[in-house]
Amino acid sequence: MKRKYFVLNGPSLNLLGEREPEHYGKQSYSDLKRLVKDTAKALGVSVRIMQTNHEGKLVDMIHKAQRAGVSGIVINPAAYTHTSIAIYDAVMAVRIPTVEVHISKIDEREDFRQVSYIGLAAKKTIAGQGIDGYKQALEYLVND
Ligand code: DQA
Repeated sequence: MKRKYFVLNGPSLNLLGEREPEHYGKQSYSDLKRLVKDTAKALGVSVRIMQTNHEGKLVDMIHKAQRAGVSGIVINPAAYTHTSIAIYDAVMAVRIPTVEVHISKIDEREDFRQVSYIGLAAKKTIAGQGIDGYKQALEYLVND
């Protein structure tokens, strides 16, 4: 059976393409879904990509990843990156290899973006590569 991966996205990532294109680019959430699905196909794995604006739903999705036996998680918690101990705890609890992705260059932005809780639980962080960062994250997890 094919290995399974989850790609999880937090608040306002559904607005990709319309939202602050100077930071997040012009590609839409549909473009991101297509890129993730094409990448998984090329790697011979199966993938589910999901988005929510709610912190607790991200926690539920991480728990679900464990029940579903996924081999790795790619996560962009968006603003919850900088605030959520609950999402950090969920990733620590399930012990599934996780890569943190940010579309923008968070290290060159506001001070409040310089803390990443999820980064403390993730095996790797990819930031500032646009939506291509998701492709790099999946490739990393599959070849890990
Ligand atoms: C983001 C960066 C976060 O600081 C921000 O709150 C987001 C998106 C990114 O992909 O660059 O919503 O995670």
